[in-house]
Amino acid sequence: MPPIPVDHQTALVSRLMKACGGAYSAETRRKYFISGPQWAAAYQGQALFHAPTRPPIGFEDIIHKFAEIGIGHWTTHDTDVIPTEALGTPEQWEIVDRIKRALNDHGLKCSMVTTETFFHAVWAASPAAEAPGVREYAKFRVCNTVEIGHELGAGFTVYWPGSLGYYVQGAIDETDSLRWYADALNAACQRDIEVAKRKGRPALKHCLEAKPFEPQAEILLPTSDAMLAFIASGLLTHPEMVGLNPEYLHELMWGAAPRAALARALLAKKLFHFDINDGYRLKHDVDIGVGLVNPLDWLNVLVLLRSHHYEGPFNLDYKPPRTTSHFGVFEVSFPTSVDRFITLWEMAGEVSADPIIKQATDALRAGGPVRSTDDAEDLTRANRELLTLHELIAHRLFQILIGQHRGRVFFT
Ligand code: GLC
Ligand code: MN
Ligand code: MN
Repeated sequence: MPPIPVDHQTALVSRLMKACGGAYSAETRRKYFISGPQWAAAYQGQALFHAPTRPPIGFEDIIHKFAEIGIGHWTTHDTDVIPTEALGTPEQWEIVDRIKRALNDHGLKCSMVTTETFFHAVWAASPAAEAPGVREYAKFRVCNTVEIGHELGAGFTVYWPGSLGYYVQGAIDETDSLRWYADALNAACQRDIEVAKRKGRPALKHCLEAKPFEPQAEILLPTSDAMLAFIASGLLTHPEMVGLNPEYLHELMWGAAPRAALARALLAKKLFHFDINDGYRLKHDVDIGVGLVNPLDWLNVLVLLRSHHYEGPFNLDYKPPRTTSHFGVFEVSFPTSVDRFITLWEMAGEVSADPIIKQATDALRAGGPVRSTDDAEDLTRANRELLTLHELIAHRLFQILIGQHRGRVFFT
């Protein structure tokens, strides 16, 4: 193939995107509780070793693009849209008004707001720093986010503590830091109760998000399970208002089974919100689009969530790759992420309805006939042949994933 002229390249991308087929309409996409983060769309491709590859883009354009794609909800950090120095000032409320207008004009809703407690130098010693002034500032920031959330009509607020941890050990007492972090959450819940009452709105759902490594060398609340223990620790004045926002990759990163982490959150009735993306075990937070690395695992995750009637948001917390252009972010990256999610969600429905999986599951749950439940040999014999169904079910899931259950065949 000869070199492709620069001014032909977007047309080529669009043509191949169309040729992929299988795209859902914006109307179909809007039926799902899918939210698009401001920070994901605005991510310019920068990292410690990487310069940006895309130009900046503001919330008006992003909201417009999300509307065209059919992403019905928008989420943001406070400082994604409001400069740090304007937080809490009249300028903040002018920006919030502009956001409201953009959302209204394009028929989107703000579902979640979150506080950035990791980027600015003020958080160098974490939002639960030794210095009382920094901790008061952290309270101001999370309370201010609660106010913004209510103003924008959000139902959720997320806390990824970010720099709650350290690089060098010994300087901080972890028990103090966790107490101080709880003080900030307590202030946010208290403020929420007041604002909700004043505005006649339901209180927000406060969702903790864990990440095992980054941006600190050691993290004080590295996993969703650590967060559950923290919620139940007695440090929170309103533990009933606080739940989880697990992120798929953040659980995978430490080597866990994300589906098992979600199951534990479900049992605790704390699965409030879910960040969807993909990536690799025991690596850094690469935030790849959902289903591009672990589609079979993703299918299994969605089977679990469907069968437990999870109704919270699916937040597209991924980062369009550096290789994707500004044009590609909205032409390819967002629509394909949404569509893979919907396809996997539909497949999860097929898994639940599949007669083979159903019969196999029912048979496993029926077990074999046993003479006595205190005879290990007898129990083993009774179930030996049935247990082969475990692998058969896994095979059937693979077939559903690739369409073989519908007669798709490969010729040799
Ligand atoms: C940061 C994290 C992301 C988290 C978000 C919400 O962007 O990278 O995982 O969901 O903050 O606070
Ligand atoms: Mn996340
Ligand atoms: Mn992540």
